[in-house]
Amino acid sequence: MTAGIEVCGLSKSFGPVRAVDDLTFHVEPGAVTGFLGPNGAGKTTTLRMLLGLIRPDAGSATIAGAAYRDIARPLTVVGAALDASGFHPARTGRTHLRVYCTVSGFAPQRADEVLELVGLASAGERRIGGYSLGMRQRLALAVALLGDPRILVLDEPANGLDPEGIVWMRRLLRGLASQGRTVLVSSHVLTEMQQLVDHVVIIDKGRLRFQGPVAELAGSQATVVEVRTGQSEQLYAALAARDGVDVEFDSAGRLLVSGLDAAAVGRTAFAAGIELHWLSERTGDLERLFFTMTSGAHRGGNASEVGV
Ligand SMILES: Nc1ncnc2c1ncn2[C@@H]1O[C@H](COP(=O)(O)OP(=O)(O)O)[C@@H](O)[C@H]1O
Ligand SMILES: [Mg+2]
Repeated sequence: MTAGIEVCGLSKSFGPVRAVDDLTFHVEPGAVTGFLGPNGAGKTTTLRMLLGLIRPDAGSATIAGAAYRDIARPLTVVGAALDASGFHPARTGRTHLRVYCTVSGFAPQRADEVLELVGLASAGERRIGGYSLGMRQRLALAVALLGDPRILVLDEPANGLDPEGIVWMRRLLRGLASQGRTVLVSSHVLTEMQQLVDHVVIIDKGRLRFQGPVAELAGSQATVVEVRTGQSEQLYAALAARDGVDVEFDSAGRLLVSGLDAAAVGRTAFAAGIELHWLSERTGDLERLFFTMTSGAHRGGNASEVGV
């Protein structure tokens, strides 16, 4: 029996698309875990399987030790916000929440408490049809919090929030984690998550690429060396031939090298008689690491930088 979330060997295909491919990871209580990957990586599909909305082809996903369908009063165990578009537009935010209270046996005042928690107290009487995307995200979060659950599962909750809203959400989620709750939050934008998450689970093409503390990710593994040369194919071959070295081209035609420091990259080039035009080392640059880990599907943050 575990207090958090366990995903084990989870797989799901849609026709020929293997959306989730033998995925195994766990999410611990008392921390915020970022579930990261580019669009189409399989995040939403994984969360939908976790919440019993679609059936996996293989593997299992449990919440506090049980499959979602076996949890007696799910709203009191796990709060989920997967999609902020499914609200009835003619209802007010408060009515929407009160319907959930009635169905789930919570006191009607709970609706006002969660409206307050998500900063929608003054908008509770307004129709949802007039809400911005950011307000609908807050309402989805309010629904997730209704049953005061120990576990929260949020799919791209920062979507549609303005920078101020993102700061607000960061504070709220950190507060919930510091009360010992399990918080799993997905995003395709690493920078949104960088100051929020303690742990990360990074996936790409349905597969696990990394899981662990964000501090570990920002450590030695996060050293990425950027190189520009007129002989990039030759340098690619020379670097890729080395053990434990990962090389990718970025969208600007630079080589991104992980597993070596700048001096070692320079030596490799020198030994192969390759002239370098530009060489730079970034340590702890999560954005770059994310880029190399997820097959360049995500553009790095410094693409405008120009070499010599
Ligand atoms: N209901 C579906 N039918 C067909 N393909 C789907 C369906 N849901 C997701 N996919 C495909 O599965 C892959 C993963 O999608 P998704 O889980 O939504 O990724 P993410 O949430 O990381 O952006 C994508 O290639 C997507 O097109
Ligand atoms: Mg998604």
